[in-house]
Amino acid sequence: MSVEELVPREPGRVHAASYDDVTLARLEADATVIKARYPQERSALLPLLHLVQSQDGYVSPRGIAFCAQTLGLTTAEVSAVATFYTQYKRHPNGDYTVGVCTNTLCAVMGGDAIYEHLCDHLGIGHDETTEDGKVTLERVECNAACDYAPVVMVNWEFFDNQTPESAAAVVDALRAGEPVAPTRGADQVVTFKEMSRVLAGFPDGRADEGVGAGEATLRGTVLAHEQGWTAPPLPGQDEPRRTSARTTTRARTGTARAAASEPRTGDEQSSAERPVTGERDASSQQQETKQASSDAKED
Ligand code: FES
Repeated sequence: MSVEELVPREPGRVHAASYDDVTLARLEADATVIKARYPQERSALLPLLHLVQSQDGYVSPRGIAFCAQTLGLTTAEVSAVATFYTQYKRHPNGDYTVGVCTNTLCAVMGGDAIYEHLCDHLGIGHDETTEDGKVTLERVECNAACDYAPVVMVNWEFFDNQTPESAAAVVDALRAGEPVAPTRGADQVVTFKEMSRVLAGFPDGRADEGVGAGEATLRGTVLAHEQGWTAPPLPGQDEPRRTSARTTTRARTGTARAAASEPRTGDEQSSAERPVTGERDASSQQQETKQASSDAKED
């Protein structure tokens, strides 16, 4: 079955029915790289959806068809996944997704006021895009950056400790095409399509730019080191785990980037290769022991 045959038609909406040969060849080459990273091909669906967004700016009907054909899935299966995650857009997205955190902490710290101010300033509401196609505004749930509340994200880059005025200045600069630097992360915010390609698994070389983890995030680690505090031992371990010199150095320098010596995903001794030692594993063993004991009693 060809990609063209799988493309659903939507009444009243015009969209390209398929990719041109050059684009399709490029997407297929990228998809081959992505699929090779997974033991089971269907596991590659999430990055493939990002790949489609890097081409079309959203998960388009032809993109759904491409994913389905590439992975041997039905378009319904692909759509089911694409509609589950908010990072996948079902209609054309702006160049910059501006997500205002209005979860509890950010909301009380000013997130609600920022969101309302941006709605008025841009003349749009949640999941709507400015007429120039530059900004899509969203209310978002916790970005795991509560120590910098209220937080705004632009294409998933952090803008910490925002105010209605500072957030408006950010969107104005984005719409004017000016380079905009997040508080942490890369030196400059990239477009939604560019970021989607990174999320598909094709680094843009910016991972080591700018500020890494900020002081507020690292404060606990630094304090634990200074006080000599350690975590309790994991089940099956005699000694508590101590903060490594490498971790401490990272905390002090404000960088949390992986050291080059750490195993990469799939390498020997990477997380996928480590023996079973975690708390969850111990719990499973305890569960099995409990079940065996219960079975013995019933016998
Ligand atoms: S509540 Fe906003 S980042 Fe957590």
